[in-house]
Amino acid sequence: MKKNNIVVVGGGSTWTPGILKAMTKHLDKFPINKLVLYDIDEKRQAVIGEFGKILFREEAPEVDFSYTTDKKEAYSNVDFVFCQMRTGGYDMRDRDEKIPLQLGVIGQETCGPGGFAYGMRSIRDMEEMVNDVRHYSPDAWILNYTNPAAIVALALDKIFPEEDKILNICDQPVNLLRSFGKLLDYDADKFEPVYFGLNHFGWFTHLYDEFGKDRAPELKEMILNGGFRPVDAEQRDQSWLDTYAMVEDMLRDFPDYLPNTYLQYYLYPDAKLAKLDPNWTRSDEVRNGREKKVFTECRRIIKNGTAKDSDIVHNDAHGDMIVEVAASIANNLRKTFVVIVRNEGIVANLPDDCMIEVAASLGVNGPRPYAVGKIGTFYKGMIEGQHAFEQLTVEAYLEESYDKALQALTLNRTVVDAKKARQVLDALIEANKEYWPTLK
Ligand code: NAD
Ligand code: G6P
Ligand code: MN
Repeated sequence: MKKNNIVVVGGGSTWTPGILKAMTKHLDKFPINKLVLYDIDEKRQAVIGEFGKILFREEAPEVDFSYTTDKKEAYSNVDFVFCQMRTGGYDMRDRDEKIPLQLGVIGQETCGPGGFAYGMRSIRDMEEMVNDVRHYSPDAWILNYTNPAAIVALALDKIFPEEDKILNICDQPVNLLRSFGKLLDYDADKFEPVYFGLNHFGWFTHLYDEFGKDRAPELKEMILNGGFRPVDAEQRDQSWLDTYAMVEDMLRDFPDYLPNTYLQYYLYPDAKLAKLDPNWTRSDEVRNGREKKVFTECRRIIKNGTAKDSDIVHNDAHGDMIVEVAASIANNLRKTFVVIVRNEGIVANLPDDCMIEVAASLGVNGPRPYAVGKIGTFYKGMIEGQHAFEQLTVEAYLEESYDKALQALTLNRTVVDAKKARQVLDALIEANKEYWPTLK
């Protein structure tokens, strides 16, 4: 098996330790020659980087591990780029969540106006990253987790239409599959899921087991009778438990399919709004929880010089997914993953240029999505509206157009009212001066 050279972009991310841990776990499937962490923030990078040095010294000393803030060093001679950056950091996530909430609209990292604002920030850095990678490593695969993945995926597809080695991924479908598996007492790896939608905006229609039986009907009954919790509930903050619980509500109203949890914001904006606190949002929860925990734990490990006694990973699915996706591509395993691809007929009655989330087999030639066929009117209508929002967001960025930004927000189900859309947009423009193009 070929040994791969990897760079993790956003090496100082709260998710990096989990990814590094997953790499050490899967070395038999995905051997690594050289691994570099790259970040623009030297301080964050140094903490996670020093942790990584200890982890690899203890678990896989054969891997040439390093960290850097130098692009050339990071991007040269690379086979796989694992990307998870956050333009503007948690300070700007905080504003994405709080500004809309203060104006009476859903404030969330990837959905509604928060996702719009974050998207407008992410596109520029992501475009730069792709250009840098292509300059130093023309053939590298770019696997991207950076949010809002829906908007990032669509923007990159418009900016780099000829690219066939960029794959945008999200861990939520696999988080859900593992949670379904726990309820059914079944190994989630063995499910053959049928899924369609946009990122953070999709549904599981079928969930076949290895005997060809669709377990979705049974699972829906179980959720309707006993509720729904994430597989790793003990590690989750209250807001995530509330989010998973909403799947039961969604199933009660729309019993056809098993929904992605993010649909809660689009289906029940009023109920969610009533529960969200404009002075304490998910960014506060993460800064006081995951971020603090990860950095404190890394510092402790560095002080002690060993990671053997650590349980730094907070979500196995996240690290496992990106490493398993890379392994499936590198070794042509053609395993099935739910990933984000250009539609082009996969969902027959949606536009070709939608970046849909769908089950695909992954091999050396990239994703080969499984056909979904035609979807029902309700789902088609929902997705078309959201796709128009995503498309107008990308166009607002590329054309620096205020009008398109206003149209995008007005179309978003979490906003709807055009006067509110303008108010939120103007406040977000003010907050994002450093990051967005000037909208004319
Ligand atoms: P974080 O702020 O802890 O980490 C992001 C890191 O990226 C920071 O260290 C920051 O300095 C760095 N960075 C910012 N701009 C950069 C650039 N231009 N080049 C290189 N590095 C840069 O944030 P986090 O919560 O750990 O999340 C990281 C990203 O992963 C976010 O975009 C988040 O939404 C995303 N994410 C996605 C999924 C998914 O399912 N798609 C799951 C988890 C996290
Ligand atoms: C899920 C989503 C990601 C999101 C992550 C963390 O896994 O799919 O897109 O970034 O949750 O969200 P959090 O609010 O915990 O930072
Ligand atoms: Mn996601």
